[in-house]
Amino acid sequence: MNGIKFDFSNVFYPNIEKGLTEEEIYNNEEKIKDVVNKLIDENPGFLSLPFTRVYIDRVLDLKNWVQSFESVVVLGIGGSALGNQALQTALNPLHYNVLPIEIRKNPKIFILDNVDPDFIASVLDQIDPKTTLFNVISKSGTTAEAMANYLIARGIIEGYGLKPKNHFLFTTDPQKGILRKIAEEEGIRTLDVPPHIGGRFSVLTPVGLLSALASGIDIIDLYNGAKEMQKKVINPNVWENPAAFNALIHYLYYQKGFNISVMMSYSNKLFLLADWYRQLWAESLGKKFNLKGETVNIGQTPIKALGATDQHSQVQLYNEGPYDKVVTFLQLEKFERNIKIPKLYENLPELSYLGGHELSTLLNTELEGTEYALIENNRPNLKVIFPEINPFNIGQFIFAYEFQTAVMGNLLEINPYDQPGVELGKKVTYALMGRKGFEEFRTEVENKRTNKKQVMM
Ligand code: PA5
Repeated sequence: MNGIKFDFSNVFYPNIEKGLTEEEIYNNEEKIKDVVNKLIDENPGFLSLPFTRVYIDRVLDLKNWVQSFESVVVLGIGGSALGNQALQTALNPLHYNVLPIEIRKNPKIFILDNVDPDFIASVLDQIDPKTTLFNVISKSGTTAEAMANYLIARGIIEGYGLKPKNHFLFTTDPQKGILRKIAEEEGIRTLDVPPHIGGRFSVLTPVGLLSALASGIDIIDLYNGAKEMQKKVINPNVWENPAAFNALIHYLYYQKGFNISVMMSYSNKLFLLADWYRQLWAESLGKKFNLKGETVNIGQTPIKALGATDQHSQVQLYNEGPYDKVVTFLQLEKFERNIKIPKLYENLPELSYLGGHELSTLLNTELEGTEYALIENNRPNLKVIFPEINPFNIGQFIFAYEFQTAVMGNLLEINPYDQPGVELGKKVTYALMGRKGFEEFRTEVENKRTNKKQVMM
């Protein structure tokens, strides 16, 4: 099968003045070899996942039940939602939910990853609780947003006099947490989040697989793509390992002050992969301490962009602003659908040049234009090329970027798997919302709040 390809040409000199030299890669060959071998030894959970049948098989077992609903609503946030959204957008028709059932064939999919009441209400307006499955996804079972939405959904199901165990499926830690406890007490079906795989690395676990399967995505092929990529990225030779090569490129540029990584998709269907990547890169690599406990305040800021839309929003900055960005384009060679621009106004040169071309040609020509301009302005850029969008290629992409992130974490000498920086905000929320055990902390937060200097207009 034709997989994804990486084009790294435009991060190098002479394509880019002051670009990387091959020598810089050679100088790091041994370092990369050590990092890749270390990762193989450590075996972070996601690395062997595609070769493990147990999680995918349990999801496949639920296929008939899950697909018997009219709607499947995912309740989760962060790593428990972003992968689902990326898979749905890439592998289903855009606006899948509004397609007639004869075409869609499978349940509508909604992903509630916020607690904005306008958003939640707008989704609740669209579902019939009697024919809805709520997939509550929370590895910890403590996340306030997922739990609040669970309570709302539960209230609705109980309000209709329906049996919760017929309308809920929990995806959570196999042993720990309140969801596990409730499930055991009430006979609610569950799926396991592997304990050794963190939220943002979990899209290929039941976290992302269930809603994918529900909407008819071929999750076996997703795994096949991940497997194929795994074989490539465990190669310690940096010149043959696209994920390690890409990590090294980002690392070397980061050392030169390029502290922003832009992922710009020239495909609406691939756009949410950039959203997924944004969390993976930000939460994994943005760290205060290194592995020795020294304060480093490190990390490269990920930005997502959509071509051609953001050519009219962001590209001015990318071309002429500070030299601080490495741009990754996502290019799609073969679009699923195509539209030909009609030949009208043949006497008006401002319009006639467009006539007769496919829209995909226009979009990919715009990508070429942006790429050319970045090169002319000596801005490093690279491309991930998708021959087409299918589960195999998406599985490859996901796996490559998970591994790339782990390599980058090792190069930066930080722990890419934790997220201590989000804990404080969570604790404040618990305290102010009146969670038991946080009373003292609440007083502290309230005191600080009243003593704070106020500048309001
Ligand atoms: O990557 C992570 O670990 C986080 O983004 C989590 O996925 C997110 O905080 C949700 O956590 P949980 O699944 O425990 O509700």
